[in-house]
Amino acid sequence: MKRVVILTGAGISAESGISTFRDSDGLWEQYRVEDVATPEGYAKDKALVLDFYNQRRRQLATVEPNEGHKQLVRLEQYYDVQIITQNVDNLHEQAGSKNVLHLHGELTKARSERNDDLIVDIGYNDIHLGDKAPDGAQLRPHIVWFGEAVPNIEPAAALCEQADFFVVVGTSMNVYPAAGLIHYVPRTSPCYLVDPKAVTISRNIKVIQEKAGTGVKKVVDELIELCNK
Ligand code: APR
Repeated sequence: MKRVVILTGAGISAESGISTFRDSDGLWEQYRVEDVATPEGYAKDKALVLDFYNQRRRQLATVEPNEGHKQLVRLEQYYDVQIITQNVDNLHEQAGSKNVLHLHGELTKARSERNDDLIVDIGYNDIHLGDKAPDGAQLRPHIVWFGEAVPNIEPAAALCEQADFFVVVGTSMNVYPAAGLIHYVPRTSPCYLVDPKAVTISRNIKVIQEKAGTGVKKVVDELIELCNK
């Protein structure tokens, strides 16, 4: 089976009702990144940061995967599909995708402030000040903040090196190292981009300038046709 690697960002979840970060109505218009998405912000005001992610998690409990997420599941009948997502929501998993690698963490998990490897499932529950990990340390969101290492970047790069096709959906490609993953994809492997806005990518790529809800289906249809040839 040939392998399709898909890199997704906030745009794939936009039609489910989750705000993106850098669009005009995006989260970074309402909040300062430094306050809610850095270790320094967390050290300064833990309650504020916990509340920010508690709100995101509560919202996640109310939304559902959209056509974009669902179309990617269809592809699994034909290809080894590997999704690398920058999203902290679980909508790919809810849609039924089997292989999902989260680069920036997961809202439904928390971890020990003292031990990055001590990760617990919290579902859609809030994290409060005073909530403890099994090692007795305060629980923090299992989110990769700006300035923190991205532990899953190496397995992600390894997947990209083995990609027969590469598809980018709904990311402004502003945040590294995620945006650099495309450079690991073999030069001979066709690449696709689904985004309603123009996104700058320094590589030959077939652009479908549409929202994920309709654009992903076009890529999936084309890939299935190629598989049947
Ligand atoms: N379908 C597809 N793409 C869409 C849609 C849609 N319905 N709506 C918006 N988009 C596109 C936008 O045009 C933009 O290119 O989604 C992209 C969203 O970009 P960002 O808001 O920058 O989100 P993302 O690229 O995922 O951000 C990367 O930045 O703040 C951090 O950790 C956060 O993982 C996030 C990272």
